[in-house]
Amino acid sequence: MSRTTAKADRIYEVPPTAGLPLAWSDLLPSGRPLERHLAGFVGAEEIQIECSASSALVIALTALKHGSDRQQVVIPAYTCPLVAQAVLQAGLQPVACDTRAGHFDFCADALRACCNENTLAVVPTHLAGRLADMTTITAIAKQAGAYVVEDAAQALGALYRSQPAGSLGDIGVYSLGVGKGLTIYGGGALIARTPELRERLLAASKTLTTCQPGREARRILELLGYAALYRPLTLPLVYGVPLRRLLQQGRLLEAAGDLHPASIPMHRVSRWRKTVGAKALKRMSWFMALTTVQALRRKARLQRIAGITVLEDAPGDMGTWPCLLVLMPTQQARDKALQTLWPAGLGVGRMFIHALPDYDGLAAGLGNANTPNARDFAARSLTISNSHWLKDHDFERICGILEQAI
Ligand SMILES: Cc1ncc(COP(=O)(O)O)c(C=O)c1O
Repeated sequence: MSRTTAKADRIYEVPPTAGLPLAWSDLLPSGRPLERHLAGFVGAEEIQIECSASSALVIALTALKHGSDRQQVVIPAYTCPLVAQAVLQAGLQPVACDTRAGHFDFCADALRACCNENTLAVVPTHLAGRLADMTTITAIAKQAGAYVVEDAAQALGALYRSQPAGSLGDIGVYSLGVGKGLTIYGGGALIARTPELRERLLAASKTLTTCQPGREARRILELLGYAALYRPLTLPLVYGVPLRRLLQQGRLLEAAGDLHPASIPMHRVSRWRKTVGAKALKRMSWFMALTTVQALRRKARLQRIAGITVLEDAPGDMGTWPCLLVLMPTQQARDKALQTLWPAGLGVGRMFIHALPDYDGLAAGLGNANTPNARDFAARSLTISNSHWLKDHDFERICGILEQAI
């Protein structure tokens, strides 16, 4: 099937992940405090709102750094490049640890080898709502005397063995960025296991963040734009057309959203944006139930295609489903499928283009990390949106194209 036929009878565009659409009433100025309700949602006593998950990570690591002479932070070699950037911005040294074969989660043996008396923190990461093995990772980190900073940027609302994702580490981080389910356009949240750590997070935030009216005004406009245009018929304009242009020009890093500013902005979030999030949060459980039912059905369909692996939950876990994370048998098959599917407006794409050591801007900071499994994951994986706007017959087309590519 050619690119044109994949698009022929559709005028709508599917977003790459299932983001919670905003209602106009969410934009009214009144509202309940996001902190209290989001804390309740993730079962925490208190939650701290920041302007992004990456700024939250900078704050968390800075808070942990004080009073310790440990310098290293172990992160998975397949994760958002902003995570490595946050470690560097906190004045620490990121260590990229290889993943287990066919997965984004740490390889336990590689993690043991990465941890030592200089390890300040380990950052287990849940991607696409799928959960990292917190039990094993925490045991290894604790044996080395390191903190656990749980990166639940992509897993707000997920449950790891009945406990909320983000609540299993010493500190948990969530993203309220675009495409992460609940969004205030750019935002992040932090929870901590103890009152002492919570105080340190607050103190670090006070030192590191400032009021930046210009940046916040821009976010407010972007959030209004999101409320107006995050719809199947208007998404081609603001997302699909620019994406297709980037793909045509071969600018894959930008197409996947992997290019970021050299410095992570650290500013405070206005009360109004928080009230928008608080109102939208009321629909989050309903939205998660809707997307879970759809994802489980579609996962079963994908699993009937020989050669494909769909990442799923370990027994006892209940992840969220912003998208389906799929591993193709070979890079060639993955690239062949994406040639048709990525520009087709069907919500198929890539999560991150490279394993961390392969990003130009990070290679120097990460040293000579040997991460073959993470590289293989980057080479063979693709994502399929779990937006409820992706119709069943279009999902069937995606399956057909994947079958052909294999
Ligand atoms: C796993 C992970 N951690 C952290 C971040 C940073 O989140 P934010 O965009 O809110 O800074 C992202 C963003 O995509 C992510 O996927």
